[in-house]
Amino acid sequence: MCCEDGLVIVREQQADDYEAIRRVYAEAFRQPRFRPPQNPGSVAPEVALFEALWEMSDIIPQFSFTAFSAGGVVGHVTASQATVATDPVVAVGPIGVLPDHQGAGIGSALMDTVLAAADAADVPLIVLLGAPQYYSRFGFRPAKELGVIAPEPEWGDAFQARPLTAYTESVAGRFQYAPAFSS
Ligand SMILES: CC(C)(COP(=O)(O)OP(=O)(O)OC[C@H]1O[C@@H](n2cnc3c(N)ncnc32)[C@H](O)[C@@H]1OP(=O)(O)O)[C@@H](O)C(=O)NCCC(=O)NCCS
Repeated sequence: MCCEDGLVIVREQQADDYEAIRRVYAEAFRQPRFRPPQNPGSVAPEVALFEALWEMSDIIPQFSFTAFSAGGVVGHVTASQATVATDPVVAVGPIGVLPDHQGAGIGSALMDTVLAAADAADVPLIVLLGAPQYYSRFGFRPAKELGVIAPEPEWGDAFQARPLTAYTESVAGRFQYAPAFSS
């Protein structure tokens, strides 16, 4: 599909990517490092979330990116519509890279690409739920420091936000994910 050996390209998600992206999330979240293992054969919640976001058209295709290597799709990051009080913001997640390709910078390339695309489109804030040890390297910090209130208080510092150029302190208040997150 693409690329000389060893090269990876990142491009905007396209409709034809659906099955390959689903496989990436199924593999990536089969044994995630920071969650207890799930029952063999069960579908990871991140796969179900991706499917629901896609089916309900809550994904923002121009901020969601697919990574390819010579063998096909190796990673993906999902961006979806969200709000802080009445302001539109962008939620990121899930993000996943095939286990054999992890640790090679693909996750970082996907995240850097979302941040750049959202920044260029004057999105004020990106929000996600994840491991602070990983996401702090991209400038994410606990959302509560910015006055952004998590839907679930127990998420604590794992609920993070990354202000972009268009950010102002008026973007504060209760955060709400797209409807697919509660389906
Ligand atoms: C998280 C993920 C997308 C990162 O992609 P990647 O291509 O492996 O990431 P990169 O190569 O850009 O960065 C690797 C670094 O991230 C760290 N890292 C990866 N996952 C991490 C996590 N969940 N928490 C903390 N650190 C993590 C690695 O230890 C490595 O650290 P180093 O640079 O200090 O050596 C990928 O590992 C993945 O799909 N993991 C399984 C699914 C998952 O946990 N998704 C995120 C949920 S929070």
